[in-house]
Amino acid sequence: MEADIGIEKGKIAFLGSSATAPKSSKVVDAKGKVVIPGLIDTHTHHRDPGFTHKEDLTTATQAAAAGGVTLSIGMPNVNPPTTSVDRFKNVIEISKKKALVDFNHNPSGTVPEEIPGLAEAGCLAFKIFMVKDTGRDYPHMPGIGLHHHGDLFRSFEAVAKTGLPLMVHPHDQDLMEMIEQRYWQRGDRSPQAYAKAYREFDGIIWDTAIATILRFQKATGVKLHILHMSTPGALEMVRRAKGEGRPVTCEVNPWALFLGNSWENIEKLGPYCLGFWVPEGHAEALWEGIRDGTIDVVGSDHAPHTKEEKEIGWKDMWKSPGGEPQIQDYLRLFLTEVNQGRLTLDRLVWLTSYRPAHVFGLYPRKGVIQIGSDADLVIVDMRKEETIQNETTLTKVGWTPYHGRKVKGAPVTTLVRGKVVMENGNVVGKPGDGQFIPPV
Ligand code: DOR
Ligand code: ZN
Repeated sequence: MEADIGIEKGKIAFLGSSATAPKSSKVVDAKGKVVIPGLIDTHTHHRDPGFTHKEDLTTATQAAAAGGVTLSIGMPNVNPPTTSVDRFKNVIEISKKKALVDFNHNPSGTVPEEIPGLAEAGCLAFKIFMVKDTGRDYPHMPGIGLHHHGDLFRSFEAVAKTGLPLMVHPHDQDLMEMIEQRYWQRGDRSPQAYAKAYREFDGIIWDTAIATILRFQKATGVKLHILHMSTPGALEMVRRAKGEGRPVTCEVNPWALFLGNSWENIEKLGPYCLGFWVPEGHAEALWEGIRDGTIDVVGSDHAPHTKEEKEIGWKDMWKSPGGEPQIQDYLRLFLTEVNQGRLTLDRLVWLTSYRPAHVFGLYPRKGVIQIGSDADLVIVDMRKEETIQNETTLTKVGWTPYHGRKVKGAPVTTLVRGKVVMENGNVVGKPGDGQFIPPV
């Protein structure tokens, strides 16, 4: 609709024609632009504490503000990993001092005894990496991986009792070990080998893992939120579970649609674009899942690593960490698709704000522009053309996998609870502006 939006004390207080709008002491002009709810990023690796040479809560949320994200929710693979109430509270205290946008943090759901206390402390969801605990330090440091089915099941039961969602990074490590051995025996540890290994047999390691956790979901009743959707097989399983009315939701990441979806990128960018390879037909299935509502949420999976850490991957991709910076660029990439007619702006807002708010217990405080909601708003210029560049990226590592990419459609102003934190591409918010947001 064409409307004025009135804000009072950080909340939306008026929506309607300018003829009837009350007077205001401050006016932000959005004429000719589109205003959407601020993005809720339910999957950000803030890296703080422990890996602040990659990113910290200030740099991550500066990049968030520049990208139209008004609520950024962290992940537990920090150091010390967030496996306990004390550690969770510590992360929240750090965030209060350093974040420019609103925040929360998904603690690890690996320690059943800690789960009720973590829920009481105000987390929105739990996160489990379905990987073997190898005792390695990064990215899966001791304590946050669960691969043994019995242990995993106990965590499902404990999280189910809280009523909060359980986010699982699906992975069949037993099978993966067999698959990767075959590449290693041929002496191939290249980025291309890594990409193919994770996609062997059309992504079998994802599908078998997802079949398992869906069965655990049925047994325990937990609200299951499946991360990193990328295979047609997994989409089919989720469709069926949803059809049965089960509380199953899922996430897609920008890297699956804009980066790992091209073999050319994998050849050219190598470690800088892995993550995972999503062959063309599989990416098309993801777009179909977006259009028909199978996919609920876009999580950025913002996962910065330094160039030094990435460079190792050219020789041995198994020694280099996966993931890339995403949070500043993903809205621009999706807006470009809206301009090209691949999805509607409505569907985009559904994925980035409205559904995340519902799945993570934030609605109607967040994720919507309506009277009484927080005034988390992004002013978008649908006609603005830009070329994404390393030079303007705000993540601490100073590079983006989308360097050189032409985009059309960009956030020009970001407001968090009525306060402007980004204006004309300049971040003006200050550390401490962000608030801790528990479930409503
Ligand atoms: O590629 C990944 N990056 N996978 C993970 O499981 C962790 C993440 C990270 O934190 O960098
Ligand atoms: Zn992640």
